[in-house]
Order: sequence, then C-alpha cells, then structure tokens
Amino acid sequence: MSFTPSSLLVTGGAGFIGSNFIHSFIANNPECRITNLDCLTYAGNLENLTALEGNAQYSFVKGDIGDAALVARLLAEQRIDAVVHFAAESHVDRSITGPEIFVRTNVLGTQILLEESRKQWQSGSVADFRFLQISTDEVYGSLGDTGYFTEGTPLAANSPYSASKAGADLLVRAYHETFGMPTLNTRCSNNYGPYHFPEKLIPLLIHNIIGKKPLPVYGDGLNVRDWLHVCDHAVAIETVLKKAIPGSVYNIGGNNEWKNIDIVNLVCDLLDGRLGRVAGENRSLITFVKDRPGHDRRYAIDAAKLTSDLGWKPCYTFEQGIAETIDWYLANQKWVSEVTSGAYRDYYQNQYCGGAV
Ligand code: NAD
Ligand code: DAU
Repeated sequence: MSFTPSSLLVTGGAGFIGSNFIHSFIANNPECRITNLDCLTYAGNLENLTALEGNAQYSFVKGDIGDAALVARLLAEQRIDAVVHFAAESHVDRSITGPEIFVRTNVLGTQILLEESRKQWQSGSVADFRFLQISTDEVYGSLGDTGYFTEGTPLAANSPYSASKAGADLLVRAYHETFGMPTLNTRCSNNYGPYHFPEKLIPLLIHNIIGKKPLPVYGDGLNVRDWLHVCDHAVAIETVLKKAIPGSVYNIGGNNEWKNIDIVNLVCDLLDGRLGRVAGENRSLITFVKDRPGHDRRYAIDAAKLTSDLGWKPCYTFEQGIAETIDWYLANQKWVSEVTSGAYRDYYQNQYCGGAV
C-alpha cells in the first residue's frame, strides 16, 4: 500500500511539531503543496516558519479548525488529498486549570475537520484521500514500573488534555468504521527539539537556567517519560501517511525512558559548561513543588509495529539530540523572548500548576 499526496492540509502547523513536520515534509517532497491552517493561539508562532517565506509549495491561512465553512473552502480550493491534523491544545497543566477549550478544540474541532474531510473524500474530486490524526501516548493512561503501551492497550486517559485527545481518537475511529473513511492515527511519546514552546519541561528548563530562575520539579521527580526527537517524529508521520493501511493505528516512540529528575540534572550539567558556570551551579536552581494533580507516573511506548510493518526507526541518539536542542535554544534567544511575552508571561507570573515556586 502506498499513497503519494499532492496537496496537504496541515492543521496547527505553526506549533512545535507541526512546524518541524512542515520543514521536513517540504524538503522531502518537492512536488507536494502544503496549506497550513492555524489560528495562532499562544502556542502558534509564525517565526517557526520564516524559512519558508516565498516558497511556492507552502501557504499559510490564519483560521480555526472549528470554522466548517473555511475548512470546506480550503479543502475544495486547494484540492486537498490529505489532512495531517496537529492542531490542539497540548499542555496538560493548562487542561487542569481550564478544560473547556481542550474539549472545544481537540474534540469538537476534530469532529468538524473530520466531517468536512468526509465530504471532500466522498466528493470524488481527488483520486485518493487520507486523514491522519496526530495523537499521543497519554491516551493510554499511566504505566507501573514495567511494561509498554501497545496499539492494543485500552484507552485510559487521566487528564482533561488526554481525555480530549482520546475522544478525538475515537471519533477518527468512528469515521473509519461508520463511513469507511481512510483515516490513520499515530500516538507518539514526548517530543523534544527546536521550536518547543517553553511551558513544556525541556525548553522551560533551558529558559529558566539561562535566566537563573527556579526549576520546578513536580512531586518527587520520579515520573518517567519516553523522549523522541521531533525530527524523528516528523519522519514517522510521513511514513505512516504514505505507507499505512487506512484504519490503522501506530505508536511512535524513542525507546528512551528518563526519570524527570535525571533529565533536569542532565540539562543543568550540559548548560553549566556552555554558560561558563561552575559545575553544579545550575542544579542549585532545582525546586521541588507540589505535584501535578492526576500526574501519570510512567509512559513507555512499544513502537515495534511501526518498525516491523513500515520500516521506521529513530535516527537521533538522545545524547546528540539533547545537545543540539540546547545549542539551538542558546542560538535562538530572540525566538524565545518573542514567544515568552504576552499570554505566556501572564500565565507563568500567576501560577505554576504544581504550586507557586
Ligand atoms: P503546540 O501546542 O506546540 O501547537 C499547537 C498548534 O495548534 C498551535 O500552532 C496552535 O496555534 C494551533 N491551534 C490550536 N487550536 C487551534 C484551532 N482551533 N484551530 C487552528 N489551529 C489551532 O502542540 P505540539 O506540541 O506541536 O503538538 C501537536 C500535536 O501533537 C497535538 O495534537 C498533540 O496532542 C500531539 N502530540 C504532542 C506531543 C509532544 O510531545 N508535544 C507528543 C505526542 C503528540
Ligand atoms: O507524552 C506525550 C505528551 O507529552 C504530549 O501529548 C503533550 O502534548 C506534551 O505536552 C507532553 O506531556 P507531558 O505532560 O509529559 O509534558 P510536560 O513537558 O508538561 O511534562 C513532562 C514531565 O515533566 C511531566 O512528568 C511533568 C513534569 N514537569 C513538567 C513541567 C512543565 C515538571 O516536573 N516541571 C515542570 O515545570
């Protein structure tokens, strides 16, 4: 089974993973056009895509996935034959303090996008069609000390964020089962890399270390996450889009588990040298804070199906990826100061989800 898209609608392409995906896909597919639909929430930043200004393959449309008329017009005018759906509210802490927008964007927005995509697919105006839902390992809930999430693991979301993503995944499944629509679903572990918004752990650490601010570690710091470089995720998505059988679900992961406190110590130590600080200085910024409510203990992805069916495996070692990521943030302080103004600043001046630091 192979599918060659000619005109992609990418939603949420001004965010972290979406923008990395667009850069990667355009470089690998000079024949394919991309329309990026993004409403530019606090997490969407056109600075992530300045390298594509003037590129005839790429166009940006500011708009909401919940705007059915706009989505329908773009699908028809651009003769879209594949939707790659990243747009979402993506931060667990924000879903605890304000769940409603998560349901509106992640559940209802996805349903509107599915419905308009169904009409486009059924109109017969394109030869073939795919709808690829970018989901998360968080829909599976939390693991104990051992074991892995497989595609057969029952959904058991624990946060309003992950519950909204699980709701969207089930709608995607329903559109395949009910209408026969050619949908795909990927569930990836934690990403890291360039353009990662500094509310998430790794860029937050880098940002705060540079500014000598406290490094909030939730609870005992022993929660485990499985980290994958965002460029490896981008290639995995392209692989699934082109090679997977419609209706299928694929886990994506780096087989790279870290306790949070070990990541915090690593980033501190790598930045001591780069910032000319004495060894151990950055670790003195570590501050344990109240735990995130409902904090999932451990995520670990079994991505064997993706490797055996479609031949994908990650290229980055964590050692290389984290060093490059830290250097990217040091070289892109202007980007960091732009995205950390306004709404971000209001959020972080008022609270950390784990409690005041
Ligand atoms: P992000 O928060 O950095 O970006 C989300 C983007 O979606 C932003 O550009 C935002 O402006 C846009 N957006 C939000 N609501 C919209 C709406 N109603 N209409 C149009 N655009 C809208 O998120 P991310 O970290 O890049 O995650 C992208 C996707 O990948 C999400 O669906 C997320 O659930 C999933 N995911 C993320 C990770 C991770 O580690 N970051 C891991 C697995 C899966
Ligand atoms: O697993 C995939 C998911 O990874 C994605 O679906 C989400 O969109 C993405 O945000 C991410 O969710 P996490 O909750 O795992 O990521 P976050 O960076 O918020 O937190 C990583 C871990 O670090 C988590 O155990 C909470 C902890 N943490 C986080 C922050 C922001 C801290 O200890 N301190 C912090 O300040």
